[in-house]
Amino acid sequence: METTALTLRWGLLLMMKYPEIQKNVQSEIDKVIGSNEPQTIHRKEMPYTDAVIHEIQRFGNIVPANLPHATTQDVNFRGYLLPKGIQVIPLLTSVLYDKDHFVKADEFYPEHFLDSCGKFVRNEAFIPFSAGKRSCAGENLAKIELYLFFTRLLQNFTFKAPPGATLDLTPAIGFTTGPVPYKMCAIPRV
Ligand code: HEM
Repeated sequence: METTALTLRWGLLLMMKYPEIQKNVQSEIDKVIGSNEPQTIHRKEMPYTDAVIHEIQRFGNIVPANLPHATTQDVNFRGYLLPKGIQVIPLLTSVLYDKDHFVKADEFYPEHFLDSCGKFVRNEAFIPFSAGKRSCAGENLAKIELYLFFTRLLQNFTFKAPPGATLDLTPAIGFTTGPVPYKMCAIPRV
């Protein structure tokens, strides 16, 4: 629950920070889902929203240091010997913010996951759930939850900062990193 909630908190903050992107997501929701209940089958017809959710996860980077792992045997990695049993901390930040894979790695830029025709494109460096045999066991559930909650919220509300509020994108300190606490106004869409 914490990981999904933190990601949604990043998502709503980023929608307030970038109202044009929020508007684009809402237009796609209106076009594809209308006032119906969002369902996972809608997702493949919503490349922009899909790209925005991926970018929220990339930019939000909520498990920056991953979980610690250990080698089960001696490993030779790029000339370094990692002896059996040594702890390895595979930093997800180094991949999610890799400038070789994301042209504007330090910015919130949904186009990281869109081609020039607006079609969704995968990126092999998108690994917020880690990689390999011990990657997140809840990945599929989390993706469904993020899509359903995010679209349902933006279908029904426009999120705006209260007058005079500054929107701070500095991550909070912790093992999992959400945004620092913020206030927001949820304006019902009519
Ligand atoms: C946005 C949501 C989520 C993110 C970003 C996330 C991310 C991660 C990461 C980075 C790991 C460590 C993988 C590794 O050790 O290499 C992990 C492990 C795990 N996650 Fe998630 N997670 C999310 C949601 C969930 C949900 C919803 C569940 C279950 C309902 C879940 C269950 C687990 C479990 C059981 C593991 C341990 C897997 C293992 O050690 O074999 N996660 N997750």
